[in-house]
Amino acid sequence: MTTIDSGTDPIDALALLRGFVSLRRLAGMYPSGHPVIAQKLDELHAIVQAHLRQSPVLTIDVIRGEVHLDGVAYRDDGMATATAQTLSELGTLGIDSLHITPGVERDEIRLAAELLDQVRDNTSGENLEARLAARGIRHISFGRIVPLDTRWRGRIWPDAPTSPLDPLYAQSLAQAEQAFDTVSSGGSLDAASVRDLVQLLIGEVVRSNAALGQILSLKEYENLTYCHSVNVAILSLLLARQLAFDEATTFILVESALLHDIGKTRVPLEIVKKPGALNRAERKLIEAHTTFGAEILMETPGLHPMAPVVALEHHRGLSEPGYPDLGDATPHIMSQIVSVADVYEAMTGSRSYREPLRPEHACLVLARQAGIRFNTAFVKAFVAAVTFFPLGSLVRTNRDETGVVIRTNPKDPMHPVLGLVSDDLERLLGEVDTSVRNSSGAYERQVVGTLPQREQGVDLTKLLPSSDTLAVSA
Ligand SMILES: [Fe+2]
Repeated sequence: MTTIDSGTDPIDALALLRGFVSLRRLAGMYPSGHPVIAQKLDELHAIVQAHLRQSPVLTIDVIRGEVHLDGVAYRDDGMATATAQTLSELGTLGIDSLHITPGVERDEIRLAAELLDQVRDNTSGENLEARLAARGIRHISFGRIVPLDTRWRGRIWPDAPTSPLDPLYAQSLAQAEQAFDTVSSGGSLDAASVRDLVQLLIGEVVRSNAALGQILSLKEYENLTYCHSVNVAILSLLLARQLAFDEATTFILVESALLHDIGKTRVPLEIVKKPGALNRAERKLIEAHTTFGAEILMETPGLHPMAPVVALEHHRGLSEPGYPDLGDATPHIMSQIVSVADVYEAMTGSRSYREPLRPEHACLVLARQAGIRFNTAFVKAFVAAVTFFPLGSLVRTNRDETGVVIRTNPKDPMHPVLGLVSDDLERLLGEVDTSVRNSSGAYERQVVGTLPQREQGVDLTKLLPSSDTLAVSA
């Protein structure tokens, strides 16, 4: 039997599926308290509990005839015929996917099997959720929609921006790529090069509207670590400006933010980029990028001692433990700042299994986690700096106009200044301030949402005028 390398003994996913299907048959033959049913239920309940002690959810997906346990392909050649019969029966019931969450009662398993006995044939694909809920089954769900299918259906995003880049931003990405590549191939990080890059970000990149627009707005590429790191460094810098940090503290923050994910250079790229669920061993390896990062940075002479601290702590929450397990220790405020920037950047970027989240949506997600995962003061400052419709966002107004955000209004963040753009998105037609109200006090225009930039191939370097001043300011 091929089992799953999850770091501990895996359960037998096929035995569980076969047991479930056989329990369904037994439910049609015997009353619910019959010893045959009780014995089968005990077996299934024990398998489920064993798995849920090691994993937050039990997910079995049948994808193109192949069984996956928690996202990992699973084969058992020993009972191929029985397996084929089980899968065919589940297919007739319209079930490709079985999810069981902690707290599941032995009785819920029995009720679910009885329900399936009544279903008989569900080739029309009826949604069984309502019928499960009506029977009080809250910890078991069946589905036709298989999360792992995204592995085949997902869009393949490029690994880095493809549209023309602001030259200073492009230079920063090139420098970061070189530094990260050196570490990936076993070389050491050069603190002097890191300082040069931090200086470039603080001194020049943050002053370029086009660069800020490319970092703040929706990103339609699955950015690799060096790219994500530069973006997180700039977002942390904007937050530092919003919080009125002095230059020395800002420098330390930006350096730490730039290097927060350097530990990913020690994690195989196929795991870093893997879509869908990770098994336990893969998840542990990904989580270890925090400790790997701290080790790399502690071994690099010339860096500020805060850099390894942020690398270690940036996935830890305030009241949510996150990882790694450091007991009750509250993350340093620099780690708290980087974690807000990190999550926003990850959400507004693309992944092969999901579209990027629009900035206004990403800000709402941060707000929901304020006080739990994130420091509320930092979320507020971040949203004030970035705003729901950040610089560079392509937006639609209620007058059916398309515009690019060219300035934000700190006192009225929902109403930025737009550059209205031509139909071909090549030229700015003029500026409108959406915070302007008419004689009766109503806004003349409202921004109704962010548009994806992909199809239009928007070139922000043409649309956003350069500026010597920080375009996003308090
Ligand atoms: Fe990270």
